[in-house]
Amino acid sequence: CAIRRYNFNVIMKNMSRLCSTKPIVTVNGRFPGPTLYAREDETVLVRVVNRVKYNVSIHWHGVRQLRTGWADGPAYITQCPIQPGQNYVYNFTITGQRGTLLWHAHILWLRATLHGALVILPKRGVPYPFPKPNHEAVVVLGEWWKSDTEAVINQALKAGNAPNVSDAHTINGHPGQVSTCSSDQGGFQLSVEPGKTYMLRVINAALNEELFFKIAGHMMTVVEVDATYVKPFKTNTILVAPGQTTNVLVSTDQSAGKYLVAASTFMDSPIAVDNVTATATLHYTGTLATTQTTFTSTPPLNATSVANNFINSLRSLNSKKYPAKVPLNIDHSLLFTVGLGVNPCPTCKATNGSRVVASVNNVTFVMPTTALLQAHHFNVKGVFTTDFPGNPPFAFNYTGTPPTNLQTISGTKVYRLPYNATVQVVLQDTSIIAPKNHPVHLHGFNFFAIGKGLGNFNPKTDPKKFNLVDPVERNTIGVPSGGWVAIRFRADNPGVWFMHCHLEVHTTWGLKMAFLVDNGKGPNESLLPPPSDFPKC
Ligand code: C2O
Repeated sequence: CAIRRYNFNVIMKNMSRLCSTKPIVTVNGRFPGPTLYAREDETVLVRVVNRVKYNVSIHWHGVRQLRTGWADGPAYITQCPIQPGQNYVYNFTITGQRGTLLWHAHILWLRATLHGALVILPKRGVPYPFPKPNHEAVVVLGEWWKSDTEAVINQALKAGNAPNVSDAHTINGHPGQVSTCSSDQGGFQLSVEPGKTYMLRVINAALNEELFFKIAGHMMTVVEVDATYVKPFKTNTILVAPGQTTNVLVSTDQSAGKYLVAASTFMDSPIAVDNVTATATLHYTGTLATTQTTFTSTPPLNATSVANNFINSLRSLNSKKYPAKVPLNIDHSLLFTVGLGVNPCPTCKATNGSRVVASVNNVTFVMPTTALLQAHHFNVKGVFTTDFPGNPPFAFNYTGTPPTNLQTISGTKVYRLPYNATVQVVLQDTSIIAPKNHPVHLHGFNFFAIGKGLGNFNPKTDPKKFNLVDPVERNTIGVPSGGWVAIRFRADNPGVWFMHCHLEVHTTWGLKMAFLVDNGKGPNESLLPPPSDFPKC
């Protein structure tokens, strides 16, 4: 099979946005970073050279990494970071996947500026299961902080509280009409020809906000999410959570003109957010310079019904060629609460000696100093324990009023699974401190989202309503505010796989855990050995 080689030079670069200039960490001097293209079944070699003063690691978000956990990327989970001056070649093969994913730094907050698109084309000669678009374009949604992002997080960690929100969202690196500065160019412009079909590969690379995405005067046909095909449906608004991707077809069937493209925040809880709408323009060729841009209104911040309409429309394509292989018999049935908490913090003066934490089943995950995958593979004792609880340690009952704050316990705990076990996880928002939609991402697997609801998950009645036929398959899912979502996957990938909230601040606070999947007995059922240039801690 073909090999794709990429060079990622991690370098500082001065960038101007919102009328000021600051140095940011980039890949090859670009923001967003370069788009990585590969075909299904191809091998990708990305040589990452760290030329900045920070430790770096890169995650290929959504790539299954079958038996190649060494290339997954989360710092201290599957690898030690690439230290300044060092380099590492991520070596992985794309197996049974095609569509849009993203790559991003997976250490501290570096992914604020270190991210880009990862486009997996179908095998040569294999068509899309929908009419072939005339053109394709990548649309990366992100954020911009005027201050240094590292300073933002350090300040937050010291104070034991939430970090400052970003100053603007961005579309392909630019905030758009909110900014009048020449360096922002009035926003990203997508030039289109009339009478064609465009496939937009929309990626939410933002740290902290789920985003609605809309184009004035144009409907979108959703055809794929998280690199899995879905039953096509039309909508004027899509919702993309951090870490998620959505491919849409857009017909340029309107009269020549300029049409506003907008990305705005979805937040159904009273938490400080960056609610600055980022804009771009769809620019038909032949449009006069004097033509006014056609505007569009964006859904309100708390437009839960718009969000639900979109989410509830998502179904696996489940065709003969792309069947939804939902596990029907479950070996491990788990209930994980996800939410916030408050722990003592003697040094946190600004918050009177307490700090906001986050947890899964009341465990606030503590990052180890040796990568878990290494510790597992080389049998290094004392790095983690395998007692992550499969159920909440306290009787969880969400009554609509947020329960009283619970102090969490801290630990580096993993949940152990035998090779090929079938797993169901119900993720239940605790609503402690505030109800909050948590986009939870699982590394190493796609899962099926078989059910969701508000309030408490009811183990007697809710499973009867599960969709086991054509549930959407993805790698990142929003746990609804004050509700739950049920997912299923097959543990057919040996290694250590991170699962966490993809809101960066919640990950930092501890809303994360890991599954340890044992090797199987068959010839191709074991984790491969680490590459020789594997970074040392
Ligand atoms: Cu996209 Cu663990 O991250």
